[in-house]
Amino acid sequence: MQEQQILEQLKRLEVKYEATGQDLNSYLEGLFEADFLNYWDYIHLDTLLTLQIKRTTLPDEEVFIIYHQVTELYFKLILLELEQLANATEVNPEFFRERIVRVNRYFETLIHSFKVMMNGMEPTQFMKFRMALLPASGFQSVQYRLIELACAPALQLVESESRSHANNLSLEEQLEKIYWRKGATVLATGKKTLTLERFEEKYNDRILRFAKKYEHINLGFKMSSLDWKSPELEPLKMQLRELDEQANIHWPLAHFHSAMRYLNKPPAVIAATGGTNWQRYLPPKFQKIIFFPFVWTDEEMDSWGRAGVEKNTVKPF
Ligand code: HEM
Repeated sequence: MQEQQILEQLKRLEVKYEATGQDLNSYLEGLFEADFLNYWDYIHLDTLLTLQIKRTTLPDEEVFIIYHQVTELYFKLILLELEQLANATEVNPEFFRERIVRVNRYFETLIHSFKVMMNGMEPTQFMKFRMALLPASGFQSVQYRLIELACAPALQLVESESRSHANNLSLEEQLEKIYWRKGATVLATGKKTLTLERFEEKYNDRILRFAKKYEHINLGFKMSSLDWKSPELEPLKMQLRELDEQANIHWPLAHFHSAMRYLNKPPAVIAATGGTNWQRYLPPKFQKIIFFPFVWTDEEMDSWGRAGVEKNTVKPF
């Protein structure tokens, strides 16, 4: 019986390999020589655990590095889901809902785990190793920018003062006015920070390519033409609202509270260390970035990021 099964499997393999002109015997010989797969090889564990290279001798710097790396991996998981949605040829509400639930789960994990940043490092150590990392900043996370462009048309990401009259601008012009370019300015001079200049040098082309690719397949674009009054779309609507809140209120607030914990000094002191206008930039109520305006009322959008919508946010310690 078992021999019969093996023969049948060999026949199936023969058909598969013949179809591409491959010699099955050679592949079977290769299988005989091949080593068994190990967990550590499969996930490249040894490499992964050598990627935490500190710039100082302060132990908490490693916490800082690992937490950023973990976050970037979650960002990658989020982008994987958004890519599937972008590539879907038809809008099946249940397929979309399931994937957005996954994205929401990732954001939820990130929001709650921000406690690691808030309470998991000694402020005195942080203030020391931070100086050895300048001008690097999480601001330079390209995946964060790609998530935004996969979720919403570039128009939704134009800085708040220009947004209402940016409708007729080209995609390139809208990207020029994207909110984060305005955000990264030196408090003392109003000029672009070196952090931003270096980021633009490295990623401007990639961001433009990505924005073009996603222009008509980003999640917000695909969702905007649905009839949101229809009761059948209610479960999907709930998930879109949750995604908007998590990505544009709760994560930014959890992050802002971390920045407040470690960097809350009078503006003059921050400016003296080459600081940005982060206190006026990071709180979501200033940027009012909203991916899916069609699932919110005007009133809800007016009060975006203000007290009352902070329910899930990690509170300052
Ligand atoms: C103690 C922890 C942290 C502090 C004190 C902090 C501080 C800051 C500050 C001050 C900014 C404004 C830009 C600048 O001046 O550099 C910023 C931006 C940013 N940081 Fe962090 N950060 C922390 C942790 C993180 C983590 C873990 C991530 C995850 C990748 C991250 C990602 C970002 C992003 C994406 C921005 C840009 C936000 C936006 O444009 O709206 N930060 N951070």
